[in-house]
Amino acid sequence: MKKIDINIPQNAYNVFLGGNIIDRLPKLLTSEKLNGRLFFVIDKNVNKFYSDKLTEIFTKAKFNYNKIIINANEKNKSYETLQKIHKALIKNNYGRDSLIVAIGGGIIGDVTGFAASTYMRGIKYIQIPTTLLASVDSSVGGKTGINFSNTKNIIGTFYQPKMVLIDTNFFSTLPKEEMLCGVGEIIKYCFLTEQKFFNYVKKNIDSLLTNDTKTITKVISEAVRFKGDVVIADEKETGIRKILNLGHTFAHAYEVEQNHKVKHGQAVIVGIASALYLSKELSLLTPKQFKQFGVLLFQFKSKIQLGKVNKNSTYKIMQRDKKNRDGQVKLVLLKDIGNIVTDISCSRKMIIDAIDYGITVFSR
Ligand code: NAD
Ligand code: GLY
Repeated sequence: MKKIDINIPQNAYNVFLGGNIIDRLPKLLTSEKLNGRLFFVIDKNVNKFYSDKLTEIFTKAKFNYNKIIINANEKNKSYETLQKIHKALIKNNYGRDSLIVAIGGGIIGDVTGFAASTYMRGIKYIQIPTTLLASVDSSVGGKTGINFSNTKNIIGTFYQPKMVLIDTNFFSTLPKEEMLCGVGEIIKYCFLTEQKFFNYVKKNIDSLLTNDTKTITKVISEAVRFKGDVVIADEKETGIRKILNLGHTFAHAYEVEQNHKVKHGQAVIVGIASALYLSKELSLLTPKQFKQFGVLLFQFKSKIQLGKVNKNSTYKIMQRDKKNRDGQVKLVLLKDIGNIVTDISCSRKMIIDAIDYGITVFSR
């Protein structure tokens, strides 16, 4: 089992990573001094596959706990789900000494973290990601939130978990499409980090998609370390952390415009393609770099197929993004691998052209 320290000032925690380590949860809670009454928020599909195993672990450890099962979809990343969690906590007299445990993908993690950050002005929570996407990205860094008024993650908090436990065995039941979503965020790290990581992912893309444990573990470990360092430097996204949103302003708009028929990780792939195109149009990237970098994305053309996209609506949705300033869409773009520029604004026409490029490449 690997241990990665996320040394955020005042908010440090450990990420544990390995195969079949969920059994170690009781011991890890003790060693990390995470006591308190336990409340589990569990993804419905995870519960379907792992209910017996989880119950066995909880019973053996003599946990005193309650649980709630949530159907993870973007519509349920909502105030209604938040209320369900809060109501269950109140009904069962959970106090400030409680510990909430999120077991699921990014949807469960984000809404649970938000519930924990707002219940009694903030109680402890931990993340047990069960998707590749949540393992490489959302479980670490403390961004919590819900969707509201047709806008992704518009309501939320920065609130760090007290521990993250990544058990790669969970991926054995993940649908292929969800592995691809995880690869979407991994591709983001290829552009944020260094050529070596880019080359490694490019060479091992099939091993990632087919859940090869050794490759997956290496990639998660590097992504978490990288993200951890960025979050340590800028927990509240006033500067460097903005780079983690590469492709996401476009991606969130595609998700909403498509009424969530396209999944987040898939939309990230299309969003990065739009961001690379715009980077080229603004001469931040040369046409040669654009072609070389695009290879990583274009291989998924047949696997991600958007329906009909309205470019103007997509642009309108982008105008509600959290990173915008002075009423202008602010973008994260690329000069080279590991050389990201943030807060870039440009004309509406250029953004619409970049949207058009993304949807043309990834349309039926
Ligand atoms: P998800 O939570 O919707 O999970 C994907 C699907 O896989 C769901 O149907 C779920 O039920 C199922 N599932 C989960 N674990 C499973 C398992 N082990 N076996 C079988 N099925 C399983 O999606 P996701 O891709 O994990 O997360 C996407 C969400 O994360 C988006 O809402 C996105 O905005 C958010 N996100 C947040 C951050 C952050 O920093 N907080 C970063 C990236 C993404
Ligand atoms: N997923 C972007 C961030 O955590 O900042």
